Amino acid sequence: MLIRSKIILNLFFFIAVVLIIGLGFFYLNKEQFRYYNDYNGYVQMRKSVKDISDIFSEQIQAYDYYMYLNEDSERYNFIEKKEQITLLIDNDPIFELKKMRELKEKLVFLNAQFLKSFNIVQRKGRAAAIQETEKEIISMIAQTREVLGNQLKELNEKIEVSKNVAESYKNRTLNLLVVFFSIGVLIIAVFSFNLYRTITNPLRKVENAARILGQGNLDYQIKIDENNEFSNIADSFNKMVKDLKEFHLKITQMGKMAAVGELAGGVAHEINNPLSGVLGHTQMLLKRIGEKSEVYPALKKIEHAAIRCRNIVGDLLDFSRQEKQEMKKQSINKILEDTFLLCENEIISKNIQLNKDYAPGLPDILVSPRTIQHAFLNIINNSILAMPKGGALTVSTGIAQVGGATYLEVKFRDTGVGFDAETATHIFEPFFTTREVGQGTGLGLSLTYRIIKTHKGYIKGESDGPGKGAVFTIQFPV
Ligand SMILES: Nc1ncnc2c1ncn2[C@@H]1O[C@H](COP(=O)(O)OP(=O)(O)O)[C@@H](O)[C@H]1O
Ligand SMILES: [Mg+2]
Repeated sequence: MLIRSKIILNLFFFIAVVLIIGLGFFYLNKEQFRYYNDYNGYVQMRKSVKDISDIFSEQIQAYDYYMYLNEDSERYNFIEKKEQITLLIDNDPIFELKKMRELKEKLVFLNAQFLKSFNIVQRKGRAAAIQETEKEIISMIAQTREVLGNQLKELNEKIEVSKNVAESYKNRTLNLLVVFFSIGVLIIAVFSFNLYRTITNPLRKVENAARILGQGNLDYQIKIDENNEFSNIADSFNKMVKDLKEFHLKITQMGKMAAVGELAGGVAHEINNPLSGVLGHTQMLLKRIGEKSEVYPALKKIEHAAIRCRNIVGDLLDFSRQEKQEMKKQSINKILEDTFLLCENEIISKNIQLNKDYAPGLPDILVSPRTIQHAFLNIINNSILAMPKGGALTVSTGIAQVGGATYLEVKFRDTGVGFDAETATHIFEPFFTTREVGQGTGLGLSLTYRIIKTHKGYIKGESDGPGKGAVFTIQFPV
């Protein structure tokens, strides 16, 4: 999974956890609030009922004083209390409630009774009023008191219960909150740890790889199992290491070539003259003593060795030659034909079939024909040596497009012994040879490489493996 997706997922979980905790908290708080609301409502109710009950007692007292103790002034007191009760009953919304209806009715009814009783006092006097209404009023008062008492008792119970419920909700809210929070933190911790690991593990690998690379190991490759941004980095890193290795090889080769060029220039020059003397005198002696002489075979060996040395020195001198060659526009097909004039006989005598596949109408290119022939000869000689039991050598020319540029291409394909991947990385190095001691100098291909480079061209040698032949491809800019 991509690290970007992981971070987004992590964030998403984080938000989800916060939301769940928030919503849970909100819900529980609301419930708790509802029970507290009930509690407050009951407390309010009890206060109203208590107020009514107090005023009611005072009202009864005023009535008693007026009726039984003949205190006329208490009549106003009584009326005041009655007004207060009516006001409360009419305006306090609590008395709109259904369960308060009975109390309300009782109070209204009782007041009506009181008024009736006062009327009788006015018309017939106190004694008559007491006689006519006392019995009913006393029973009504008792009933009202009972209703008031019951209401208060009931409200007290309700207050107690709602208080307990609200409190238990509060505890539950807290507990749940702690649980939610712990689970949330745990989930986030697990996710974050996972994210941390997906980042730090590959980072450590990259760091390690950079260290190993720094120690000069250009074969190290980073392995990252997951498929994310880091695997892309690892791929880039691995490619970089591979390029670096190739580059390193090229630099080494260039360095070697430059060193050999310098060395060869000096040494070959010094050796060439005495070597010519040795060869000249040996050949003169050979002629003079004739084949029958007993020293003839030894002298012949000296001549052979001297010729070989002269060839090597010649190669070295070619290799180190820096002077400008004579450049002219020429057809590549013609240069190839001129080259085969020099070696076609040898090819045929080695039982090698020569196939020529020249593309017609190729443009002429600016070259030094003599050195290019030399380069081609080196490649052809190697092919001949690679096919000791015969085979086929196919030479083809054509046009190749590489990265938008046009090149003239020459391919030499043989069916010889080929080479392995390790050898392929060294074939253009000076003095690299797989031939037996005394058989090869290892200078042929490096010289060819140098010649092609001075023509701003490219050369590569490929083989599918030992026994599978080889292909040398040369490209000249057009
Ligand atoms: N056509 C080929 N087939 C197989 N191996 C080849 C071929 N051309 C070159 N090589 C390999 O490249 C090596 C270097 O070649 P070269 O530079 O010409 O030096 P030399 O021929 O003196 O060995 C050879 O020793 C051989 O191993
Ligand atoms: Mg060679």
